[in-house]
Amino acid sequence: MGITFDEKNRLFFIETRSTTMCLALTDEEGILNNVYYGSRVDRGDISYLLRRGEYPFVPSENDRDRGCFFDYARMEFPTSGIGDYRTPSVILIDEKGHDSSLFTYKSHRIYEGKENLYAELPGGDRVRIPGTFAEDKVSTLEIKLSDGVLGVSAYLSYSVFEGIDAIVKSVRLVNYSDRCVIIDKLMSSTLDLERGVFDNKSPEVVTLSGSWARERRMDVRLLKRGSVEVYSSRGESSHQFQPFMAVAEEGAGESRGRVYAQTVIWSGNFICGAGADQFDNIRAYVGINPQHFRWDLKSGESFQAPEAVLVYTEEGFDGMSHVFHNLFKEHLIRSPYLHKERPVLINNWEATYFDFDTDKLLSIAREAKKSGIEMLVMDDGWFGKRNDDNTSLGDWTVNEEKLPGGLKRLSSELTQIGMKLGIWFEPEMVSPDSDLYKAHPNWAISIEGRTPCKLRNQYVLDITRREVRDHVFDAMVNILKSADISYVKWDMNRQLSDLGSVELDPSSMGRLSYLYTLAVYDLQERLLKEFPDLLLENCSGGGARFDAGMLFYSPQIWCSDDTDAYERLSIQSGTEMLYPLSVMGAHVSASPNHITGRTMPFDVRCAVAMSGTFGYELDITKLPDEEKNAIPEQVEIYHKYSEIVREGDYYRIARESETHEYDAWMSVEPGKEKALLTYIQVKAAPNVKGRLIRLKGLDPDRKYNLRLIGADNEDSLFCSREKKSLWEKTAPAEALSGRALMNAGIVMPAVWGEYAQFMIEIG
Ligand code: GLA
Repeated sequence: MGITFDEKNRLFFIETRSTTMCLALTDEEGILNNVYYGSRVDRGDISYLLRRGEYPFVPSENDRDRGCFFDYARMEFPTSGIGDYRTPSVILIDEKGHDSSLFTYKSHRIYEGKENLYAELPGGDRVRIPGTFAEDKVSTLEIKLSDGVLGVSAYLSYSVFEGIDAIVKSVRLVNYSDRCVIIDKLMSSTLDLERGVFDNKSPEVVTLSGSWARERRMDVRLLKRGSVEVYSSRGESSHQFQPFMAVAEEGAGESRGRVYAQTVIWSGNFICGAGADQFDNIRAYVGINPQHFRWDLKSGESFQAPEAVLVYTEEGFDGMSHVFHNLFKEHLIRSPYLHKERPVLINNWEATYFDFDTDKLLSIAREAKKSGIEMLVMDDGWFGKRNDDNTSLGDWTVNEEKLPGGLKRLSSELTQIGMKLGIWFEPEMVSPDSDLYKAHPNWAISIEGRTPCKLRNQYVLDITRREVRDHVFDAMVNILKSADISYVKWDMNRQLSDLGSVELDPSSMGRLSYLYTLAVYDLQERLLKEFPDLLLENCSGGGARFDAGMLFYSPQIWCSDDTDAYERLSIQSGTEMLYPLSVMGAHVSASPNHITGRTMPFDVRCAVAMSGTFGYELDITKLPDEEKNAIPEQVEIYHKYSEIVREGDYYRIARESETHEYDAWMSVEPGKEKALLTYIQVKAAPNVKGRLIRLKGLDPDRKYNLRLIGADNEDSLFCSREKKSLWEKTAPAEALSGRALMNAGIVMPAVWGEYAQFMIEIG
């Protein structure tokens, strides 16, 4: 691992454990090209990949056709208007309205370590932009490129961490001129490849898309000439698309195939795209969506684009996921809870919605405690006069009619029961029907003269303004100091629209979306500084803020409002493409499910929720006895296996979206001593054999026993007698090597009826 510069051949080698990226400078002008990114290669002279000698694209020898070179080369920082007609990484507009730029090499530095990224909010508050970090074992290359005409420099930064096959990249623009330059677009990363890296076959573009309650399902399509883009212009990373795109060799599978993937560590508007051109070059890019973005970079100012993460692997999507998971776990999530067992919680949202009071909550808590549940999360509806979703956001005072004695009484009664308290907030919002809005109508983001669009009957506060942000912060602090509160669910239930801030002058109005995201970060940073032990879970109408930026603050994120275990199979397996199981909020809810009406067995709902941060989202006092009685065993199983789930490496065995009959995944302890397999039969089929599945990630030479979870317990409510006897008929009779289990596989019994779970301890 490391970064070197071959001065003679003007080549930068950026190496991770098993990949190399090689950036080359053209000798004439110092245009930065990305000539190679792939499996590790020697640091030889591969500058021929610049294709300088290829007729007629010879910039030095053929000035007549200079543009052809620009439109053909693998540009590392492509600009607009100079002869590269593909999608640029940057568009700058000078004071005369011209939109051309060209950046050439000035200098570079290679250093051990990595610098944090910062940006400024109006009023001068300096905010750290979420990004990867490491105390040591990280090296960085910073290349300075400049446009001499504009007087603007671009600092391109590349960091590599020991043992992690990812390159983290960021860009900062500095205006050294005495004029203002408008940044119309700035990508965090543009990666140029040639189709040859995919053996001259069209690659596949993989994205994760969805909507409310059906987030992050995998989409795959062939990349022909033209382009594909996914994006958010909603002021959050969104339900609709995940900030992620992979370009993979056609037919790449879970365990094999070349995959180039990029994401951006950012919770606001983004764009990820890939295009193929006339020469079969492929250009893939990620960064802030240029829609709703326009930055007036004044003389002396700088602008920092968020960090992009680049992953290359030959080991398919599992290989890609492992890199993202490890990078995020080791170098992005800061929370002290990262490696700790999270409390099993019960959330009252689906139990009561807005219709609750202290007595109802306490009766849920008492019943939950008997089952081993450890924390009650009081969701929406505890403040102002909020008995439905039309009112009171912004009025963060306890509704004493519902909660007499306030949070103090609730929390002390919970303490007596032996339960912790968590609460819900939606700090960024204001209801038109609220004291806050009446007092400060212009605190909402809006455009003068235009009636702002309401979503869920609410507006978004302009937290880019310091007084608004301070007000929100103080309101939260007051509440959190008023009682013993261990956990906050930070929600955000509408997207941004009507982008106007009374504090930004017209030339800076295009900054608003970026600043908004920064303001959210600032608030969460301040909150965690004030309450370092707080367990924070981000949420946005379910999973619209499931992104790497949020992981910098919260070690877990609510995955989706859809808690239907069948739906969760595809939502969770999409989420796991990038994010480790330890961050995925997953709860068991009542059946029939409130959103889909689907009925599913309690043990299956539990098995699916157990591969995330586990909890319940139901009224335990109303559960049928057979379900209520099953909870203590479920909680025990969660505690027994939560470490493997949290710390283990995740492997996809089968996706229901492909098999249509079953889904299966594994978590394997880092030392490979133990593993956990979860197998869900979704559909019953007549006259079928049991499914042969091959296990993954085990130590080939180690012997493993397989145990059906719940089988040792005679009266298990998690594992029925019928299931035990089915398993006994197909399970291996003795310990087998990892090699046998991974190659010969095991047989999962076919079960009569739909929806069955088998959780198998391997070790
Ligand atoms: C969002 C969240 C839910 C719940 C409601 C409350 O939809 O995702 O879990 O908290 O808000 O209004």
